[in-house]
Amino acid sequence: MREALKDAKVSRETTATAVKTASSRRDREWPRPDHCRVVTIANQKGGVGKTTSSVNLAASLAMHGAQVLVVDLDPQGNASTALGVEHHAEVPSIYEVLIEDMPLDDIVVPAPEIPNLYCAPATLNLAGAEIELVSKVARESRLRRALDAYDTNKFDYVLIDCPPSLGLLTVNALVGGDELLIPIQCEYYALEGLGQLIRTVDLVKAHLNQKLRVSTILLTMYDARTRLAAQVAEDVRSHFGDVVLNTVIPRSVRVSEAPSYGQSVMTYDPGSSGALAYSEAAYEMAHGGAVQ
Ligand SMILES: Nc1ncnc2c1ncn2[C@@H]1O[C@H](COP(=O)(O)OP(=O)(O)O)[C@@H](O)[C@H]1O
Ligand SMILES: [Mg+2]
Repeated sequence: MREALKDAKVSRETTATAVKTASSRRDREWPRPDHCRVVTIANQKGGVGKTTSSVNLAASLAMHGAQVLVVDLDPQGNASTALGVEHHAEVPSIYEVLIEDMPLDDIVVPAPEIPNLYCAPATLNLAGAEIELVSKVARESRLRRALDAYDTNKFDYVLIDCPPSLGLLTVNALVGGDELLIPIQCEYYALEGLGQLIRTVDLVKAHLNQKLRVSTILLTMYDARTRLAAQVAEDVRSHFGDVVLNTVIPRSVRVSEAPSYGQSVMTYDPGSSGALAYSEAAYEMAHGGAVQ
């Protein structure tokens, strides 16, 4: 019993320190970019933290004064769910933008929990888009065209959350973005498939979007208790160098609980290790890359 109380005290103290650290971080400068940064978040592997990273980085940036739009490009609509945005079949969504030329302005909605944060939702209709796009004119550039026709300059960041494949939806996101952020889960097989992603990026760069560059790699779901996680992190750093953010996102139950409350972890439990890590990662992003 005494042990339990001691544990509880330690955990309260840890939380108190975390909150204090979080508030002192608020005093640091979060530069706003001089033009809208369109960041595609992709990795064809499922479950590596694309959606979690899109939502929590977007929430962090918005909570520090940036205007942020999350484009949900996954038919599952997980980013829309986590942002508390409706995405049943009747909601005008990114599907209508890509397939029916609906302007983005008609589908973008504010995320209810966080000021400055907006979402272009995805519905299950998007599942058909992968096939329907095949016969469309400029099938790889439809998102880019929609973004060009939209006043993206009212935003500091547009983050595009991709589905777990390298199909036409992800290609649209690569053509639409200036930067690519690759989340890598600190697990065995993490690097498998990255070669294919990088080759796709090179093809897009050569033929469809010269501006695209891999700007950021974020290590996710890091379990400090395992040697494997440390090994994967080391491999990624030696392979990709300084595009890898110094911040790693720890595995944290609070991060995985937040979406079921229609929230990011940044509002669900701002003092949790996951929220603090995403805030640090967003801070590095705001500074254009790894901060020492
Ligand atoms: N840092 C984390 N700690 C614990 N669970 C996480 C973390 N990041 C993501 N998850 C969980 O892992 C699963 C996959 O994450 P998700 O972001 O949906 O991946 P993706 O979009 O790449 O498929 C989700 O259930 C999510 O809640
Ligand atoms: Mg996802």
